[in-house]
Amino acid sequence: KAISIVGVPMDLGQSRRGVDMGPSAIRYAGAVERIENLSYAIEDCGDILIERPTEKEASPSNLKHLHTVVNASLALKRTVSEIVENGKFPLVFGGDHSIAIGSLAGITPHYEQLGVIWYDAHGDLNTEETSPSGNIHGMPLSVALGRGNKQLTELFQDHPLKEENIVLIGVRALDEAEKEFIRTSNITVFTMHEVDRLGMTEVMSRSLKHLEHCDGIHLSLDLDGLDPLDAPGVGTPVVGGLSYRESHLAMEMLHESKRITSCEFVEVNPILDEKNKTAEAAVALMGSLFGEKLK
Ligand code: ARG
Ligand code: MN
Ligand code: MN
Ligand code: MN
Repeated sequence: KAISIVGVPMDLGQSRRGVDMGPSAIRYAGAVERIENLSYAIEDCGDILIERPTEKEASPSNLKHLHTVVNASLALKRTVSEIVENGKFPLVFGGDHSIAIGSLAGITPHYEQLGVIWYDAHGDLNTEETSPSGNIHGMPLSVALGRGNKQLTELFQDHPLKEENIVLIGVRALDEAEKEFIRTSNITVFTMHEVDRLGMTEVMSRSLKHLEHCDGIHLSLDLDGLDPLDAPGVGTPVVGGLSYRESHLAMEMLHESKRITSCEFVEVNPILDEKNKTAEAAVALMGSLFGEKLK
């Protein structure tokens, strides 16, 4: 199958600058060559253009840089939708996690039941009302469910995600309102506790089993899902995360399942990184996701 890469140099969905250089760092770590070696036809569509607000954007709400994030999401939605229409696999490089709004909005209309595996330390389930930070990267999953600011949820029109088609893996930092939402929702959550108790093999088998009825599965991989020792170049690190090895196992199992139909790797911030270690981890995980084998 053919893969189309699109970079999204977005850093306005959170407060630490530098994550806009994530796509470059990931390319520099050899993403294209790595996947090409696995005999895929791969094209790099380049980056989505992100506006650079020169003055402080007048904030109509608690949401930081809403206008820029909406415009970027629209552009990414169009690009990703076109990639799917052309029968190709969209591989998106972030950028902060607010970009999942655009990628998911571009993908959901093409499926009856899109499943999502959200690999992350966080739930990203805040809304305009509950967000402690105003950072949109803490909200994309809510938005994809049709919850939150209308300018953002509008991108999904009649194609929001369904709660029962979402699985979170690696969770260890939730705000109170996110916990409350999860308790009353049909989202499936494997926190670090479940990963420790069950092991990644079981967590991944259960996740895939839970999404069996889905006609496509999107992987949204936030590098802060990994432990900061393995992925230090992220803006919101949380100790006690998924190991490099667990993450490879997860990617290998996803490859074997042949169920993943699109994915994104987000939150790589080379300014906070140690010699591009986090981008290199992202590229190594892509290797496993696309079928690299030792024997
Ligand atoms: N829950 C916090 C917030 O809403 C942190 C979100 C972190 N999200 C991320 N994609 N790294 O601000
Ligand atoms: Mn700013
Ligand atoms: Mn996160
Ligand atoms: Mn995230």
